[in-house]
Formats: sequence, C-alpha cells, structure tokens
Amino acid sequence: MNNFRFINNVLHVENVSIKNLSKVIGTPFYCYSTNAIIEKFNEFKKYFNNSNTTICYAIKANPNIAILKILSKLGCGAEAVSLGEILRALKAGIPNNKIVFSGVGKSNEEIQFAVKKNLLQINVESLGELDLILKNSHKLNKKVNLGIRINPDIDAKTHNKITTGIKNNKFGIDIKEAENIFKKYNNNSNIRSLNVSVHIGSQITSLAPFFKAFDKIKKLVNKLNKKQIKVNTLDLGGGVGISYKKEKKIPIHLYAKKIKNIANELNCRIILEPGRILTAESGILVSKVLYLKKGGNTSFAIIDSGMNDLIRPALYDSEHDMQKIIKDKKRKKNYSIVGPICETADTFIKKIAINELKDNDIVFFNNVGAYGASMSSSYNSRPIIPEILVYKNKFEVIRKKENIVSQISKEKIPSWI
Ligand code: LLP
Repeated sequence: MNNFRFINNVLHVENVSIKNLSKVIGTPFYCYSTNAIIEKFNEFKKYFNNSNTTICYAIKANPNIAILKILSKLGCGAEAVSLGEILRALKAGIPNNKIVFSGVGKSNEEIQFAVKKNLLQINVESLGELDLILKNSHKLNKKVNLGIRINPDIDAKTHNKITTGIKNNKFGIDIKEAENIFKKYNNNSNIRSLNVSVHIGSQITSLAPFFKAFDKIKKLVNKLNKKQIKVNTLDLGGGVGISYKKEKKIPIHLYAKKIKNIANELNCRIILEPGRILTAESGILVSKVLYLKKGGNTSFAIIDSGMNDLIRPALYDSEHDMQKIIKDKKRKKNYSIVGPICETADTFIKKIAINELKDNDIVFFNNVGAYGASMSSSYNSRPIIPEILVYKNKFEVIRKKENIVSQISKEKIPSWI
C-alpha cells in the first residue's frame, strides 16, 4: 500500500491528513507511518525466511521507542552502539538474546552491562577492547559471544563520511591480525563462541562492495576451519541503501541469495544489521515556509526547520526531495530551500523547481525516517521537534517537543561569576 499519498490534493500519511495534523501539532515535526515500517520489515525479512538469520535493526537509524516496539513485535532484534541504545531495545521488549552490541569505543560501564545481560553478541574492534571484555566476563563469571569485526579494506563506494571498511578507517581489525586473535582465543574459557563481523559502510547502492567483503570473510572462515577453528555466526552488518534521488536500488533478492549461499557453505548462522532500509522511507519532515526572499539571482524559501532538525544535507550533501503538502496548479519556480540557522550550511536543497511558494505554505521532505530525528540537535538553542506516529486514521505524539526553558534549566551559573 502507498502509505504516503495525495487524497483530494492533500498529502495523507495512511489516512491522516497532514494539513490537519500540521494545524494540531504545529510545524516542524517528523511524521512516520506504522504500516510503512511493518511492510518494509516484512518485505526485507521474507528474503531471509528459511535461513538461520537474525535481523538486528540498527537502532541509530531511528531509536524512538515506539518504532522499536513495532519492530520488536514483528520479531526483529537490535544492533546497539551504546548503553542508551541497549536500554531502549530492552524497554521496547527486544530480548537480550536478539541484541548485538557494536561500536568502536565502548566504555567499561557499557561492556560490564552487556556482559551481565548475556547479549546475542558483542562485536570487538580492537585488542584493548577484547582484553577489557574478557576481564569483565572473568570477573562476572560469564561466557560471551564475540564477533571480531574485520576491516576487509573494501571501498563501499558511498559518501566518504559513511565509508567504514577501508584500511585507513578507524573500524575493525585487519584480517591477518584477526586470524591471530582466533588462534589465540579460540579456546578461551570466557568465550562461548568467537565469530566474525563486518560492516563496510552505509547508503551502499551496488552489490559489488558487499560481495567483495563477504568473499573476504568467507576466505578467512575457510582458512580458520582448516585449522579446526569453527565459526558459528557471521554478522554481515547493514548498509543497504535506498533511493533518495535516482540512486539504483540494491536488488535484495540477490543480496539475500549471496548471503544464504555463504551461510550454507560455511554452515553458519547469520546476523544482519539493517538500519536505513527498514525505516528511512517511512518518515517525512513537515515544515512551513516562513519567508521568501531574493539574494542575488537566488529565490530563497526560508522554512521553519533547520540543519539541527535534519543534518544530512549539511553533513553529507544529501538531497531529500521536497514537495508542498497541497497539490496546486501554480507555475513552477526555482528556489533554494534554507533553514533559520546562522550558517550557510543550513541549506536543504540548493535548487529545486517547485510550484510557486507563498508564506505559510506547508512542505515536506521525503525519506527522513532514518538518520533524521536521530541526528537532530538543539543547535542555536532550538527545541528538538516532535515526532508523530500514524496508524490508519489515528496518530500519537511519540516524542514531545522539547521544552526550551527546561533545556536552559539544566545549566548553571557558578557562584564566582
Ligand atoms: N551496523 C553498524 C556497525 C553500523 O555502524 C551501521 C551504521 C549500521 C549497522 C546500519 O547501517 P545502515 O543499514 O543504516 O546503512 N548518519 C549517516 C549514516 C551513518 C551510519 C552509521 N552506521 C547518514 O545519515 O547517512
């Protein structure tokens, strides 16, 4: 079903009119469709049916507890990168044995918590971290499942800020070094299983980098098997991209087929950590035109959301399509869409041809259900904006607008000033 559609020229999310919702909530706000999330998860999962695959949603994409609950009820696990994310997963009812703990800089407190909770797997990114995990599991008399994160030195051909599998990136462990870790720690009494993990980046739009990385992993595991070292689980990370503009979509059936083949060949269980592909397309950012002005040859539309609400365009030069929530027949005009923040980086779209805008027009950005709200901040002392979840003709505020007075009240002027 198309969960974002125009009914009588007005944008609806499922059966809720965004025109009405804007009046009730006040712009700007994020709005998600429950159905869209359910459909996306089921569609993704279907490719991995009948295989030993645990899908662990990368919480960082959208950590809202309501979103996690939808996924949890569908049987989805979680990939967490902080104590906060683990707590969110548990609160949403995701069982501990479906939670993977990743991240290059886990603190001792986080490691202790993860060990105590018997998580599905802790992914290891350095020898220092391995040492700390083992100290903690020894002290707590626990056995852990570990995934040694490999750095396969593969270019994911995505934006350089979200490429993680090249040897000069901070992530993972060199394959040769990983091999030595397996030899040394294979029979460690605090390790239940020593596994392999890999994640080469995000918003990847071709299969080749995935396949290259998976093949390197396969080679490593075969080599280990020959030395009588058994690897039970392969955590193949996330990274599957979506089509923001006209990027090609990853044929998931081929991605899944490759993974199934490897799993069968190596007789391994699989963990996947998709984030963006599960939630990006299920959210929009609704905003209002505050002012129209000219600067040189450019017509600016200044809207009431800024780079603090959606930082992807400023950080990765990404473009999210923008439209008016009401379809009209006005003539098209070119605009630069900018926010209220005091930086030129606060530009959503440099140039877009859109039916002529006027003050107070309501507009929306597509595909912001992942890495939208989750990366927002209160820069310029702006409140974090509300998040709304729609289901059929119902809606609920799943995150309240931040109160700026309470934000200020957390700060203190010391007596010596
Ligand atoms: N697993 C690990 C270890 C990760 O670091 C990530 C994302 C994922 C899974 C999920 O990747 P996904 O399936 O969502 O591509 N803020 C950036 C994206 C950063 C991704 C960071 N790691 C953006 O807005 O494009």
